[in-house]
Amino acid sequence: MHWAKVVGSAVGAAAILALGIILGHFAIPKAADPPDPQDLDQEILKTVLAQLDASKIRENLRELSKEPHLASSPRDEALVEFILQRWKDQLSGLDSAVTSTYEVLLSFPNQEQPNLVELVDSNETVLHSFQPSEENVTGEQAGPNVVQPYAAYAPPGTPKGLLVYANQGTEEDFKELQARGITLQGTIALTRYGGAGRGAKAENAAKHGVVGVLVYTDPADINDGKSLPSETFPNSWGLPPSGVERGSYYKYFGDPLTPYLPAHPASFRLDPNNTSGFPPIPAQPIGFQDAKELLCNLSGPSAPDSWQGALGCDYKLGPGFSTNGGLPAGSMVKLSVHNRLVLRNSSNVLGIIRGAVEPDRYVIYGNHRDSWIHGAVDPSSGTAVLLEITRVLGTLLKKGTWRPRRSIIFASWGAEEFGLIGSTEFTEEFFSKLQERAVAYLNVDISVFANATLRAQGTPPVQSVIFSAAKEIGAPGPSGLSIYDNWIRYSNRSSPVYGLIPSMGTLGAGSDYAPFIHFLGISSMDLAYTYDKSKTSARIYPTYHTAFDTFEYVEKFVDPGFSSHQAVARTAGSVLLRLSDSFFLPLNVSDYSETLRSFLQAAQDHLGAQLQQHNINLGPLVTAVEKFEKAAAALIQHITTLQSSSPDSLQVRTVNDQLMLLERAFLNPRAFPEEQYYSHVLWAPRTSSVATFPGLANACSRAEGTSPGSEAWAEVQRQLSVVVMALEGAAATLRPVADL
Ligand SMILES: *[C@@H]1O[C@H](CO)[C@@H](O)[C@H](O)[C@H]1NC(C)=O
Ligand SMILES: *[C@@H]1O[C@H](CO)[C@@H](O)[C@H](O)[C@H]1NC(C)=O
Ligand SMILES: *[C@@H]1O[C@H](CO)[C@@H](O)[C@H](O)[C@H]1NC(C)=O
Ligand SMILES: *[C@@H]1O[C@H](CO)[C@@H](O)[C@H](O)[C@H]1NC(C)=O
Ligand SMILES: *[C@@H]1O[C@H](CO)[C@@H](O)[C@H](O)[C@H]1NC(C)=O
Ligand SMILES: *[C@@H]1O[C@H](CO)[C@@H](O)[C@H](O)[C@H]1NC(C)=O
Ligand SMILES: *[C@@H]1O[C@H](CO)[C@@H](O)[C@H](O)[C@H]1NC(C)=O
Ligand SMILES: *[C@@H]1O[C@H](CO)[C@@H](O)[C@H](O)[C@H]1NC(C)=O
Ligand SMILES: *[C@@H]1O[C@H](CO)[C@@H](O)[C@H](O)[C@H]1NC(C)=O
Ligand SMILES: [Zn+2]
Repeated sequence: MHWAKVVGSAVGAAAILALGIILGHFAIPKAADPPDPQDLDQEILKTVLAQLDASKIRENLRELSKEPHLASSPRDEALVEFILQRWKDQLSGLDSAVTSTYEVLLSFPNQEQPNLVELVDSNETVLHSFQPSEENVTGEQAGPNVVQPYAAYAPPGTPKGLLVYANQGTEEDFKELQARGITLQGTIALTRYGGAGRGAKAENAAKHGVVGVLVYTDPADINDGKSLPSETFPNSWGLPPSGVERGSYYKYFGDPLTPYLPAHPASFRLDPNNTSGFPPIPAQPIGFQDAKELLCNLSGPSAPDSWQGALGCDYKLGPGFSTNGGLPAGSMVKLSVHNRLVLRNSSNVLGIIRGAVEPDRYVIYGNHRDSWIHGAVDPSSGTAVLLEITRVLGTLLKKGTWRPRRSIIFASWGAEEFGLIGSTEFTEEFFSKLQERAVAYLNVDISVFANATLRAQGTPPVQSVIFSAAKEIGAPGPSGLSIYDNWIRYSNRSSPVYGLIPSMGTLGAGSDYAPFIHFLGISSMDLAYTYDKSKTSARIYPTYHTAFDTFEYVEKFVDPGFSSHQAVARTAGSVLLRLSDSFFLPLNVSDYSETLRSFLQAAQDHLGAQLQQHNINLGPLVTAVEKFEKAAAALIQHITTLQSSSPDSLQVRTVNDQLMLLERAFLNPRAFPEEQYYSHVLWAPRTSSVATFPGLANACSRAEGTSPGSEAWAEVQRQLSVVVMALEGAAATLRPVADL
């Protein structure tokens, strides 16, 4: 391992100071401002939506994806400057823009000593060496800046062993192998993407004595089974046989050496040799062309039906190869991983529009900038949209025709691919200020996975503002429907309150919204256009994190006219204006009631009997949910009353603060001691299949089968109290301020 540690950089300090000034006091001449707007101006909204231009988004994307821009690379640094200059532009820029740099621990392969996967005989003579990088199918993915496929943060090592096939590398998969009597000790496990997280595959494997892990993408999971070069890019949107999904195998997020502290040069750092969350054994991703040669040569019993894929042979479990394919008996797989940990500077770019009336309330809109290779879809499709929105808003701002009621902070995050690093460091640095002042966080990472329909993830309070925006914008294509009505056709659910509505997803940790919702408790959302799920079973768009995620790929196969990009820009733009300009915040806190009811119902239906046996009563939870519903309904009623009177600005501000702070009330930093950053009691990771409060569900599944009075049952009791307390606290936040 190699890393360089530098203490006391002046640049870091200057950036911190500049940010402090920006987020604190604004020194913009008042004369340029229009009169204080009272409420969302429909004319301005129409103007903004009309000006968001598909061809400009296309131009942005071409520039952003022109060259590979791995985190902290020279091209990534050049894009920092590019975005900064856009946001500082005299005619279409923002009020101000700064960069903020952190010194963070990244992981790279060694250019001088490439990672290798080899077939060796029992004397370690190399029989076959697999290709270390992707094929050059269009010329676009050539060049020295294309990082070789690797598993970021996987430790270096050269393990060798008999090969076993372990499906997705979940805990159940390894238990299944064990149950079938397959020897795992000392083997190399071949796993496929999906099911378990990247790092979890290596962690689960190591628990069973496996010494190295290979991870590949099965054409069944990404290409609807298609695997021939004629059926894949550049002939279609499919993943070519040599394509390899890179990715971070780090278990947590944020800079690994500075948990809960911003990674300033002078910050305390953990010893890299003593950091938790890195994979315990070497790992390497490979393409399905190489996986086929390995998997289709395995010996041993056939794998279960659900473990079979589309490589065109019967998948066996191993261990070791059959001699039918010509391999000598006892042949093994040898992994040579030479990844290095390196301390690097990575920058966020922040652009600010100062609010006219409530400058101390922030609406934050961000996306990451770094990619694995060219990253045309991930993340440049999102940044192309972000830059078009800032161009349109910046132009109105510079002309003096518009200034939002609240401040807007635009962010281009660094080093997301390594573990949401830039955004997490930002939330650590400005923890208090953001908790006090941030109204909502909007994330648009990959803006277009495919061109069929809008997809939104978020917490319940943002549902109504996304719906309002989606109802007023036309969907691309010939349907003539609104984005909202088109969305219902692809993804819907029956709500007890609203009837048939589009179905919103919840927020995991897939992008930079994670620290905002889980760590800070800021209502958050992520928007994108996506596939028709009835037409493809692809786990994600096929060229994800490969060298084939290029501008040409987007232009030919993802969104030829850029009309889906434009649809996302309009939706995000409308949501942004509504959040920053509306008199009353468009966050419907009552929409949490439906979620809490369904969590309660699931707890009663699926955990109730088990809990009762252990004398654990859900009564207090029922009461807490009722209190929440009542308080939320009363607040909505109060707002309706205020709206029909003429409320003074203090009355509005008081109510808006309750709406803003509701999400914070669900935080309990001590709720999940085994997790990092997760403190939102409703949205922490849930391993149990019962769709209820995650802490309660996980604790129950751990306690199952343990004796009454065990520590595990005490934890169930504790988790129940944590939820009840959070709901009572949330209800208190919503009640009239003079009440307790
Ligand atoms: C390994 O080396 C031994 C001793 O030289 C030899 O007898 C054996 O055949 C070799 N095995 C293989 C698979 O080449
Ligand atoms: C990749 O292909 C392009 C065009 O086919 C060619 O110009 C380029 O030299 C190739 N690069 C490598 C590294 O093979
Ligand atoms: C960390 O571990 C590596 C390899 O195990 C070793 O070379 C290095 O000296 C260690 N560094 C520290 C600071 O302990
Ligand atoms: C390494 O971690 C262990 C447990 O977290 C701790 O007890 C020990 O002091 C750490 N050592 C160093 C050098 O940081
Ligand atoms: C089995 O391995 C050999 C040696 O690498 C290879 O030539 C052959 O194509 C493999 N079989 C299959 C079905 O991929
Ligand atoms: C980060 O930037 C500062 C200021 O330019 C520099 O002193 C420091 O060496 C850089 N750190 C790394 C790891 O490159
Ligand atoms: C999506 O793209 C495909 C092919 O690129 C095209 O046939 C289809 O009409 C597009 N759908 C919409 C809604 O634009
Ligand atoms: C609701 O979604 C399903 C697909 O999940 C679709 O088949 C159905 O037609 C949709 N309903 C409506 C009314 O569009
Ligand atoms: C807010 O949510 C509640 C409950 O889900 C619903 O009844 C009400 O109509 C919503 N209000 C608005 C303005 O959307
Ligand atoms: Zn991304």
